[in-house]
Formats: sequence, C-alpha cells, structure tokens
Amino acid sequence: MRILFVTSEAFPLIKTGGLADVSGSLPAALQAIGADVRILIPGYPAVLDKLVNPTFLTTISNLPHDGTINLIIGEMPETKVPVMVIESAGLYQRNGGPYVDSTGKDWEDNPYRFGTLSLVAAMLSSDQSPLKDWSPEITHCNDWQSGLTPAFMHFMSAGRTKMKQAKSLLSIHNLAFQGSYSADWVKRLGLPAESYQINGVEYYGQLSFLKAGIFYADGLSTVSPTYAKEIQTEAYGFGMQGLLTARGTEIHGILNGLDTHEWNPAIDPHLVQHYDADNITGKQVVKKMLQTKLRLKVEANTPLLGVVSRLTHQKGLDMLSACAETLITQYGCQLAVLGSGDASFEQGYRDLSRRFPDQVSVTIGYNEALSHQMMAGCDIFIMPSRFEPCGLNQMYGLRYGTPPVVTYTGGLADSVQDTNEDSLNNKTATGFVMKKADANDLVSAVSKALGYYQDKKTWKKIQENGMRQNLDWSRSAKAYMRMYEEILHK
Ligand code: ADP
Ligand code: GLC
Repeated sequence: MRILFVTSEAFPLIKTGGLADVSGSLPAALQAIGADVRILIPGYPAVLDKLVNPTFLTTISNLPHDGTINLIIGEMPETKVPVMVIESAGLYQRNGGPYVDSTGKDWEDNPYRFGTLSLVAAMLSSDQSPLKDWSPEITHCNDWQSGLTPAFMHFMSAGRTKMKQAKSLLSIHNLAFQGSYSADWVKRLGLPAESYQINGVEYYGQLSFLKAGIFYADGLSTVSPTYAKEIQTEAYGFGMQGLLTARGTEIHGILNGLDTHEWNPAIDPHLVQHYDADNITGKQVVKKMLQTKLRLKVEANTPLLGVVSRLTHQKGLDMLSACAETLITQYGCQLAVLGSGDASFEQGYRDLSRRFPDQVSVTIGYNEALSHQMMAGCDIFIMPSRFEPCGLNQMYGLRYGTPPVVTYTGGLADSVQDTNEDSLNNKTATGFVMKKADANDLVSAVSKALGYYQDKKTWKKIQENGMRQNLDWSRSAKAYMRMYEEILHK
C-alpha cells in the first residue's frame, strides 16, 4: 500500500501540538507493518534544518502564488520514514511559527501557504505526477491545512477518464480550526468558479479548506470513536454537523496511539531517574527534582497537580483557574502549569503564581524537556477539556504513572477509566472522570483523586493500571490499514 501522508507539522521536525505527534508516529507505525509511506510537509526553516539526507527531486512551476517550488526528499530522524519537503523561500522560510508570526497573528498568506501544500499533494496523487517513479494509492490529508487536496484532486481528474488517481482520505484532528477565507481566494488558488457552492468549497459565505476536504474526500476519519459521534451533533459540530451527519456512517473513529519510545519513563533522557510499572519509586526522585527546578516547596507528600497544554477555552483551563485557590488553600495541593495561548489565560496563571509562589509554578512557552519532566514528576494530571478530539497528554499521564483528571468527552472518554470499586476490582481504574465540565466538578474529581492518593497502596494500583495500558500505535495502525483498504475498494 502506497500512502502519501500530507501534514503541516510532524515531530521531531516541527511541532505545535498533537497533530505533530501523530504525524511523527503513525507513518512509522504504518511502515512497520509493510506500508510504503511518504510524508509531504512544508519546508519551514526547522524542517529543512532537521531533515536527514536531503536530495533534490523536482521543480514545480506556475503555482498560484506566482511561484516555483522545489520538492526535496529526505528522511525523518530516527524512524527514517521518507519525507518530501516543499521548499519555497517566499512561502515557508521565515521566522515565527508554522501558522502565526512571532506576535501570534495568523500569517496573512496562509491560504497560499496551505493552498500550495494541498495543490502539490493533489499533483503528486496521480499517474500524471511530476514524479515519475512513485505515486500513492491513498492520499491521507490531515486537518484544514491539507483540506483542499481532495477538492484539487476532484477537479484535476474531471473529464480525464484515463487518469489513474489515488483515493483521498481526510482525518479530522480538530473541527474547531476550519481554514475559512474570503471567497476571492477561490480564484487566487486556481479552483474553478463552480467549486464555490454549497455542494463544494463554500461555507457560510467563505471558502473553507476543511469543508472542502469533508465534502470531496473519498474517506473520512477522526481521532477517537467518541469524537466521531460527537462531531455529528450541534454541540460539537462547529456548524459542520449537517454535512458530517450526511456522511456519518462512513466516518471512522480511530484512537491515536502514542510513541512508546519517545514517551517511556524507563528510558526517557529528560528524566534524572528512570522508573517503570514494576518499580515506581524513581518517580519520587523526579518529583523532587521538578519541585526544586520549579522553585516549589520540596515536599514529598504534597500532591502536585500538573498541566501541559495550549492555554485555550477548548482545554477548559479557565475552570482550573476558577478553582485553583481552593485546591491550593483548602486541599493543600501544589500546581505546575506549562503552556501558552490566550493572553488572558497566561496572565491569570502568572498572577496565581505570584500570589502563591511556593505552591504554584507557571511556565509560559513551549518546552519539550520540561513537558516530559512534568508528566513524570507530577502526581495528578489535569485536563478538563470542553472537547477533545483525542488528546495525547492524558495518555502520557497514564504512561508516566500520573493519573489524569478529565472530562467525559472525545478521546478522554475513550482512554481514561474512572476509579471506583468495580474498576479497582477489575484492574481497569486509571484516572478520574468529571461528571460535568465545570469548576465545581473539577474540585470534586480532584478531591476524589486526593482521597485515593492518601491511600498509597490503592494509588499504586491505579498508577500501575495506567502504566500497563496498551497505548502504542500498532493497533491503530492496523485500523488505518483496514480503512485504506475499504476506501480503495469503495
Ligand atoms: P492539542 O494538539 O489539542 O494541543 P494534544 O493533547 O493532542 O492536544 O497534544 C498536545 C501535544 O503538545 C502534546 O504532545 C503536549 O505534550 C504538547 N504540548 C502542549 N503544550 C506544550 C508546551 N507548552 N510545551 C511542550 N509541549 C507542549
Ligand atoms: C488535535 C486535537 C487533539 C488531538 C490531536 C492529534 O490537536 O485537539 O485532541 O489529540 O489533534 O490528533
């Protein structure tokens, strides 16, 4: 099976969130079970820097931004998965993030930047490809950034009966980001005028990259079974529920796995002490190091709550700031936060750490090493998301013996089992599930967790259950392969 995996970020080349983790590990897991996978990604400076063994492939001209791109092929560090990189000084080689500039503002030419990613993916997806020796059977797009690919593929093949083209799949990692732009982009990106209609790329008076993908893709998937159902409802559909319901039975919900090499407390290079499910005692050493590093009071028995997250409404971290003082003063917790996002959230957490310097540590920014140390050194991981397509951090928490407190939604519902007498008896208890998404319920769930935390023997059982849970990619990779087969034979 030949697969073109189109993505706007992939760890370790470039990462802003969970999509990068998935794009780093899923292609490798597919390769491990025999697939011939190539990643296609924009050539941001970090990608060009870290790509292993880059070789020039071809040049493609007359692209919508009036330009030419070079296609380069190289490999992922470590996994050696082949990566095709779109090199364009004008589109991608600049300082700042993949989506926003250094002040946090969206790049104005994002429609060109990701329209080009989508168009190049479509050009590579048939036997008319500028590459003579390789074309995919499945073109696997991810999120809005590659959402126009299926639309471009549709119009490229129109009237060309002899053209052999791949089937397209769109995986939705987050429906909240839709890539919507004014209608004049239809022409600027070279889409035909007739594409701009309700049965096409039009969405509430704009061109939506994500809607285009949902409409034109041969197959659809999302990153957990629960989210696959949720997105067909008004509450979670962000306006797309009608279209999604129309294709409802086709939407596969496949839970993300995790990179069990990168996220393994027994070998994690970021930790001062390693540990595993058979011997968790080393976790205490990491906690002490973390408390010291974060300038928290070094106290072995004080419960340390952890957050590593984008600081946004989706992640429900306003619920935590609303009850943080109670958790600190009445429940005797410490709190460590690592993240960045909305300015008001960042400010709120900074203020909290100023008021409680011994109990609260807030690190604003992105820090890979610290995120590993927090996953290991904290006692309880807090993730009260309002919606969560899959979520990876709760799984990292499980794997590092840091039971998560979560809301019952999306991938959180599919990966964390609430602790009670039954789940303790049958060894499935792994965390604490809130009943509602509000601050009171968050306090109740943390309070319940603290009750178990005091009982060291039971706590160890909950930690062990989570650490032994099979979360690796192999099962999900097989589910992707079955889905590809199904789409091919449709
Ligand atoms: P999302 O993609 O919605 O942000 P996920 O839970 O799927 O949520 O993935 C988030 C990923 O980004 C995880 O790998 C997490 O460790 C990482 N992450 C988020 N914020 C930070 C940060 N400030 N520093 C380091 N890693 C972070
Ligand atoms: C998105 C979602 C997150 C998911 C990730 C990877 O960023 O918000 O829930 O884990 O994609 O699929």
